[in-house]
Order: sequence, then C-alpha cells, then structure tokens
Amino acid sequence: MFWRYDLSKVTRLFILAGLIYLCIGVTIGVLFTVFPDAIGWLLAMHAHTNLLGWVSMMIFGVSYHVLPRFSGRPLYSDRLAGLHLILSNAGLIGLIISWPLSKTYYGVALLQFMLTGSALLYAVSAYIFVYNLGKTVFGRT
Ligand code: HEM
Repeated sequence: MFWRYDLSKVTRLFILAGLIYLCIGVTIGVLFTVFPDAIGWLLAMHAHTNLLGWVSMMIFGVSYHVLPRFSGRPLYSDRLAGLHLILSNAGLIGLIISWPLSKTYYGVALLQFMLTGSALLYAVSAYIFVYNLGKTVFGRT
C-alpha cells in the first residue's frame, strides 16, 4: 500500500539482488588486478554485473518505492513489478553466464541462442518497468 513507509517485497528483493551483484562485480574487479589476462574474458561479466546488476537493480528497487510516493499515486501493478524482478534477474544471470562462454566457444549455436534470449528477457523486463512506472507517474488519475 503506497501510503505506508515500509519497503515492499519487490523493493527489498531488488535491493538484495543489487547488493549481491555488487559483491560479485567488485570481486571480479579485484580478480582483474591479480589476473590481468582474464580481463578480456571476464570484462563483459564484470561490466554487466556492476551496471545491470548493482546499479540498475538498486535503481529499480528504489524507483518502485519512491516514485509512487513522489507522484502521490499507488504503483500501477504489483504483479508487473514482480514479473520485472523475475525476468530481469533471469535475463541478467543468463547474460553473465553466456557472454564469456559464447566468446570462448564462438559459433556454438546454443550459446548464441542463450545470449540473445537472455538479452531479450532483460529488455522485455525493462519495457515492463517503463510501462508500469509510466502508468503510475503519467497515467490518468
Ligand atoms: C573493486 C572494485 C572494482 C575493480 C577493482 C574494478 C576493476 C576493473 C578493471 C581492471 C577493468 C578492466 C579495465 C581494462 O579494460 O583494462 C574494469 C572495467 C570496467 N568496470 Fe570495473 N572495477 C571495480 C568496480 C566497478 C564498478 C562498481 C562498476 C560499475 C558500477 C564497474 C564498471 C566497469 C565497467 C563498465 C568496465 C568496462 C570499461 C570498458 O570496457 O571500457 N567496475 N573494472
């Protein structure tokens, strides 16, 4: 309920996910300093874990909490927010795993399919986020 100040389950889970991705992302960063040869292989994993994982998940979680309050309207759909949580994490985990593998085993159709499918999942989840918050902030009252 939007007038209460406690965090919703979706917001908590997005923040939890963001914190976990931050730990993984900076750990990979530290590994780069020890094993610079791994940078080429793991760079996409590091960048996406940090930017789509830590930064984006945190923004998603905080947005679901503050934007309905700032706009004085309840979130348009809790179910879409839950779907966004699941699809964005499934897509990102798929990306993080399949990106380095598809570079190493270039041309393996299954890995390419997994990479594109994961990217698509994340993109669809972003469209859902935009729709849900768009309806919340700009929708008719
Ligand atoms: C302990 C923390 C971190 C360490 C030690 C670290 C280290 C590194 C290293 C060594 C590279 C490769 C640079 C190269 O191409 O030679 C890199 C790339 C990158 N890092 Fe980090 N990083 C850390 C945290 C972060 C965080 C928190 C973010 C984002 C929020 C981030 C985003 C990126 C991005 C986007 C790249 C790719 C840059 C490019 O390709 O031009 N890193 N990082």
